[in-house]
Amino acid sequence: MAHSSELIADDIEAYLLSHQYKSLLRFITCGSVDDGKSTLIGRLLYESHLVFEDHLTALEADSAKVGTQGGDLDFALLLDGLAAEREQGITIDVAYRYFSTEQRKFIVADTPGHEQYTRNMVTGASTADVAVILVDARKGVLTQTRRHSFLVSLLGIRHVVVAVNKMDLVGWSPEIFEAIQGEYRDFAGRVGLDDLTFIPMSALKGDNVVDPSRHMGWYQGPTLMGYLETVQVDDDTANSAFRMPVQWVNRPDLDFRGFSGRIVGGTLRPGDRVRVSPAGTASTVARIVTMDGDLDEVIAGQSVTVTLTDEVDVSRGDILCAGDAPAEVADQFEAHIVWMHEDEMLPGRPYFIKIGARTVGATIGQPKYRIDVNNLDHLAANTLELNEIGVCNLSLDRPIPFDPYAVNRDMGGFVVIDKLTQNTVGVGMLNFALRRAHNIHWQAVQVDKGARAEMNSHGPAVVWLTGLSGSGKSTIADIVESKLHTLGVRTYLLDGDNVRHGLNRDLGFTDADRVENIRRVAEVAALMVDAGIVVLASFISPFRAERRLARERVEEGEFIEVHVDTPLEMAEARDPKGLYAKARAGQLRNFTGIDSPYEPPEAPEVHIDTAVLSAEDAADAIIAELGRRGIIRR
Ligand code: ADX
Repeated sequence: MAHSSELIADDIEAYLLSHQYKSLLRFITCGSVDDGKSTLIGRLLYESHLVFEDHLTALEADSAKVGTQGGDLDFALLLDGLAAEREQGITIDVAYRYFSTEQRKFIVADTPGHEQYTRNMVTGASTADVAVILVDARKGVLTQTRRHSFLVSLLGIRHVVVAVNKMDLVGWSPEIFEAIQGEYRDFAGRVGLDDLTFIPMSALKGDNVVDPSRHMGWYQGPTLMGYLETVQVDDDTANSAFRMPVQWVNRPDLDFRGFSGRIVGGTLRPGDRVRVSPAGTASTVARIVTMDGDLDEVIAGQSVTVTLTDEVDVSRGDILCAGDAPAEVADQFEAHIVWMHEDEMLPGRPYFIKIGARTVGATIGQPKYRIDVNNLDHLAANTLELNEIGVCNLSLDRPIPFDPYAVNRDMGGFVVIDKLTQNTVGVGMLNFALRRAHNIHWQAVQVDKGARAEMNSHGPAVVWLTGLSGSGKSTIADIVESKLHTLGVRTYLLDGDNVRHGLNRDLGFTDADRVENIRRVAEVAALMVDAGIVVLASFISPFRAERRLARERVEEGEFIEVHVDTPLEMAEARDPKGLYAKARAGQLRNFTGIDSPYEPPEAPEVHIDTAVLSAEDAADAIIAELGRRGIIRR
């Protein structure tokens, strides 16, 4: 390695030790390839002398071959590791680079500037302390500069460096630098960024990157490296209230019970009063244990094991909080959400959200608005698509301890996970808790489901028929209902077409509307089950997630999923309402099976192959299943 430090050769132990106690700064660079971002990072890496020799040799060869800088090294080539970037001239992912100087260690997240890659920038920015926003001195503050700044502010990065690059191409003009500064300050104020440092530079020539410029005597501020080496970033979290999400309960033997995790806010000493959130139990810190012995004080960023003086109940996912400043606890929130998946966000669909060490079920409401990241306009939206950012209400299936993201990123930041695929589909930031559910309690009643079942002489159930349009669901449901009626069973038939005339007349057939359609029907079916009724629900209900939601609204054993399985060709040949013909003719959009998906059940309680069974036989099969389960007596 071409390394400056003699220590490595002479005394590797001492070298590693000196490294260990250096502070770590994480930063993100925002800008496009044209702004000179790759050149800038390349130069930071090169000048910190941590470029590997073989890299360097390759670089020299490459620069000679394809470099755009004559005989000089082309630093941009250092970073163009991604083949796609070389081919298309854009970066398509987040690359993390590590380097260090005598003062500090650095991790830089290099993210693309191209509009559709909000996802990558959000990923890179979520852990950064500082953002370096590149502005081309010739072009000034552009739409993308505003977009980057908005995201930086949204992700809670407080310290921003505006690197006004390519000063060599504007004659090192202080007037141009001043003008860009003024324009940027105006915008930054609107998005709440106030710790701003402006540095005029030429990444290409090396001015003000590591060494002070020889061309801009009028600039008295730090070089970029000088700034990065000295900027103070730890104070904010260390000065906030003590928080430690419990990652695991450490119980090697009966005498020791410690709670391990990383401190994400404040400081802690033995003797401090703490509260376990969400339970609210109070206790006192006995010891702070680490691999290298007990500590007298720890601060945000450190990972420790804490023991308490009392035997209190603490489990994974709980938060140890400052005794006098416990976290808020709530289950309804307003949040910013950045959607990260090709499949749009579906309001009403159950997702998981992971916040700290805790994973809970959540549904996201229809966006209040979506934000145009280019001009901060608020736009109406039904869903969020890939890379879109919106403000939505969030409803969790149980209360969690939290702090607003603006107060503590670790306590208020979350990821959204698809329940079925387990993919991360979005990230979000909690803004504040909604108090509306606060004073609503569950009212206990005297006449319950059991009492009603006794009077009815049968139990309640949901018979959920799913299948393509024209599969015969409604016909079968109709026969089942009249047979049950004859048997003296109290029934009600919820039918897709009928419900859409009243309760759901505001809904169409987009994915989002179908999700909402089934969510409402699932609620109604659950109420009817509570009323003691056998509900027949006949809906295409194309998505597994919502059928599962309907299942989870009632008790185990009360939900009978019936797959009315008719191949598309057969349903289309029948076409009882002439809708397939219309869909094929392009007169009907989003038609299930044609241009809208259908996810067949994986393990339905009853499977009906309509090619083999008549509607009458199918109805008998369903009634037999109700009998087998003891819901009806025959
Ligand atoms: S679901 O997908 O949201 O569950 P639902 O069962 O309520 O659908 O309604 C389906 C009925 O609406 C169909 O039987 C058909 O008569 C009618 N319909 C009208 N447009 C469409 C469409 N684009 N896709 C499917 N069904 C449609």
